[in-house]
Amino acid sequence: TISLKNKHFLKLLDFTPAQIHFLLDLAAALKAAKRAGREQKTLVGKNIALIFEKNSTRTRCAFEVAAFDQGAQVTWIGPSGSQIGHKESMKDTARVLGRMYDGIEYRGYGQAIVEELAEFAGVPVWNGLTDEFHPTQILADLMTMQEHSPGKTLADLSFAFLGDARNNMGNSLMVGAAKMGMDIRLVAPEAFWPDKDLVATCRAIAAETGARIHLTADVAEGVAGVDFVYTDVWVSMGEPKEAWAERVALMTPYQVNGALLAATGNPNVKFMHCLPAFHNEHTTVGREIEAAWGLKGLEVTEEVFESPHSIVFDEAENRLHTIKAVMVATLGH
Ligand code: CP
Ligand code: NVA
Repeated sequence: TISLKNKHFLKLLDFTPAQIHFLLDLAAALKAAKRAGREQKTLVGKNIALIFEKNSTRTRCAFEVAAFDQGAQVTWIGPSGSQIGHKESMKDTARVLGRMYDGIEYRGYGQAIVEELAEFAGVPVWNGLTDEFHPTQILADLMTMQEHSPGKTLADLSFAFLGDARNNMGNSLMVGAAKMGMDIRLVAPEAFWPDKDLVATCRAIAAETGARIHLTADVAEGVAGVDFVYTDVWVSMGEPKEAWAERVALMTPYQVNGALLAATGNPNVKFMHCLPAFHNEHTTVGREIEAAWGLKGLEVTEEVFESPHSIVFDEAENRLHTIKAVMVATLGH
């Protein structure tokens, strides 16, 4: 039997395929229980700290609602207002929060920071996104792919990730696909392929699981026949604004639009995005981009985002159920 009690959740590389399946099964059970109005609370009396050094809608709300559903209390610690980073190191913060809280979520910059927090906290630490990895998002993505593929297992599925394939999403999707024996194509300009060491690590995992990992700059070749097309922002949180100018030009051929979906040759292809997405001018950044480049959509067009192919809001909802599964598995009684 599998138990993840008292384990950290820092990156999927730390988990076996069986443990990931366990979390996905638990998430499905928690989702069904909530919908049926028979959810059992396993975190009553627990206190949870949520550290956000970067902005968030989904991850924060998923951690909060999941905690409340399970009977726990939360404290949100934002980018300012605490001593973290300015007057106190992460090592000292970890030892303080670990005396008060039963579990700690961290969203911020380097993966080394969340690893250090975990080393010294003495309680489970969960990665809510770093520059390198976004593991709770991958659980939601795998759950969503599974739900949209009745009669199939994850190992039967193929998907293409387009755009900045060396960001936290490209990296973590490659790890998730490798672990679950999937067919992943990272479709991006070569300068935006994932780090060579991480690719080598994932290829070694793939040799065990039967996963296929294909890196290509060629869109038509990359997307042919896939079940899912996945993209993410071209510039991530924490990257300099100047990155936009270079990337818009380089990434435009990788935009997920109607022609790209057609190039898959799969009339039932599904569109995924971790969100937030730039697909129209209804945001501050969207308006800046429209003014600078005359574009209304970037990594995805409004046409695709709002089409029946799009399963992005199923994916967003599943952040709740999968994050709840992580907390219940590591901290629940
Ligand atoms: N997908 C995701 O992590 O969204 P937030 O930045 O809103 O948490
Ligand atoms: N790559 C994006 C993901 C946001 C959920 C970022 O880091 O900003």
